[in-house]
Amino acid sequence: MRTLLFIKPDGYRRRLIGAVLKRVEDGGLKIVEIKTVRLDRARAEEFYKIHKDKPFFSSLVEFITSGPIVACLIEGDDAAPRLREIVGATDPKKAKEGTIRHLYGTSIQNNVVHASAPDEDPEREVRFFFGSQRDR
Ligand code: CMP
Repeated sequence: MRTLLFIKPDGYRRRLIGAVLKRVEDGGLKIVEIKTVRLDRARAEEFYKIHKDKPFFSSLVEFITSGPIVACLIEGDDAAPRLREIVGATDPKKAKEGTIRHLYGTSIQNNVVHASAPDEDPEREVRFFFGSQRDR
């Protein structure tokens, strides 16, 4: 299956791209495609629309549009749940030792990466960044 990972502006600014991608590959998943993009407000609001009524929504949109992000198309058996294991819980303080967010996250918002929730249509998130074309 396919799923989406992106490195957030905090991870990009702190030069954590290599460290993050190494954890994903060492976890047995394949990185099929990578692109650096900057989301504008409308695209960020669309991507995170399931959170639009949450108190953190405007701050999240501000943060995610504050600089480049690195979107990665990830493939593997059970890629979405396995990637979430590698990434760890949303709150770095609650993330298991050795996960990306435990190692590098600094707050519940500045948690370095986003990984599609297995039960929230990972394929929609893949298409959001990579469309449906397959040129590999
Ligand atoms: P992410 O997995 O990308 O999904 C939604 C994002 O909102 C989350 O990671 C955090 O960056 C951010 N966020 C900020 N505050 C909260 C919160 N209280 N609960 C969940 N997510 C939050």
